[in-house]
Amino acid sequence: MKRSARITIHPEAIQHNLKRAKQCAPNANVFSVIKANAYGHNAVATAGILYPHTDAFAVSCIPEAVVLREAGIDLPIKVLQGHQNSDDLHIAAEMDLRLMVHDVHQLTLLDHYSKKHQFDITLKVDSGMHRLGFQPEHIRTLFNKLKNHSQVNPENIMLATHFSSADDVESNTTLDQINTFNKACKDINVPKSLSNSAGVLAWKEAHADWIRPGIMLYGSSPFSNKDRDALDLQAAMTFEAPVISVHSLKKGDCIGYAKSWQCPKDMTVAVVACGYADGFPRHAASGTPVWINGKNTELLGRVSMDMIVINANEYTDNPIKVGDWAELWGKNLSVDSVAQKAETIPYEILCNAGNLRRN
Ligand SMILES: Cc1ncc(COP(=O)(O)O)c(C=O)c1O
Repeated sequence: MKRSARITIHPEAIQHNLKRAKQCAPNANVFSVIKANAYGHNAVATAGILYPHTDAFAVSCIPEAVVLREAGIDLPIKVLQGHQNSDDLHIAAEMDLRLMVHDVHQLTLLDHYSKKHQFDITLKVDSGMHRLGFQPEHIRTLFNKLKNHSQVNPENIMLATHFSSADDVESNTTLDQINTFNKACKDINVPKSLSNSAGVLAWKEAHADWIRPGIMLYGSSPFSNKDRDALDLQAAMTFEAPVISVHSLKKGDCIGYAKSWQCPKDMTVAVVACGYADGFPRHAASGTPVWINGKNTELLGRVSMDMIVINANEYTDNPIKVGDWAELWGKNLSVDSVAQKAETIPYEILCNAGNLRRN
C-alpha cells in the first residue's frame, strides 16, 4: 500500500558519481556495489543506470545476484559473501557468477561439487579487518590449491581484501592493511581488489586493478569530516513527505512522545507525514535538519511511527502550509547530515528508507 512519503531516484546523479570513482582511479576497473537492493535504490534499476559505464557488479549473496540475472543483467557479478551451500554453487554455475572464497567450508563445498564447472573465484585475504578472509600466511598455499583445482577457472582468480577504517585518513590502519595484503600476495600475478568508496577517494595506493565503490555511487560521503559537495558527489535519492497540519503552540508547550521538546516561545509548527515506519530514523534528535520551502528548518521532539513535527517559524515570506512537501534528505539536504543527528550512518538510513518505500 502506498503511503504519502515518496522517494525519487536520480539516475544522472548515480552516473555522475560513478564517473567520479573512475576519475579517482583511472586505471582500475569497477565493480559497482549494488548489494542490499543497491543501498535501497533498487538493484535492478540501478544496475540498468550503471550498466553502460561499469565493468561489473558486486552483491552480497546469491539471491541478490539471481535478481539481476533474471532482469537480464549480463555483466560479471561478484558475490561478496560467496557460496554458502551446494545449491549456491549450482546457481553460480548456471548463472555464471563470480564467487568470493573466504572460508574452508567453501573450499570443501568446491571439492565435493559433483558437476563439471570451473568457477571464477576471488580469494579473500584477511588483512586486518578480521571479518571475512584467510590469514595472510595461508594465501600462497591456498592460491596454488585453487589454481590447480579442477572446479576453478585458473584464468580468472582474483585476490581481494576489505578495509576496516579507510574513512579514517589520519590512522595508519589502512596503510598497514595495504602492506599486509601486498605482502601476502607478493609475486602472485592476478588481478587484485582492495578499495571501497573511502579507499577510492582517499587511498590511491589501494586502487589496484579493481575498485569496489558503494556508498559514493549513491552520493553520500564515507568521511565524517568531508561532505558530499567537497567530494563532488550528487544525491541519488530524494526522500520527501507532505505537511498534513500547521498549527500554533504556546511557550512552554511540549511536543510529541515523552514531551521531549519544549517550546521556548509561542511558535508555529508543522507536522510532516513521515516517521520511522517510512524509514526516517527513529533516533533523529531534535534539531535534525529538514528542508522545506527553500531552506532548512529543524525537527522538534521525537520521531513517531508515521509523523514528525518541524519548526515552521521564520517562514514569513513563504509560510509553510498543508500540502507543502518537506525534503527529509536529497538534492538540497545531505543524508549524511541527517545520519549524524541520528547517530547512525547514511548506509543504514538509505537501506531502511529505500527498502521500505516502493513507489
Ligand atoms: C567487501 C565490500 N566491498 C565494497 C563495499 C562498498 O563499501 P562502500 O559502500 O563503503 O563503498 C562493501 C560494503 O560494505 C563491502 O562489503
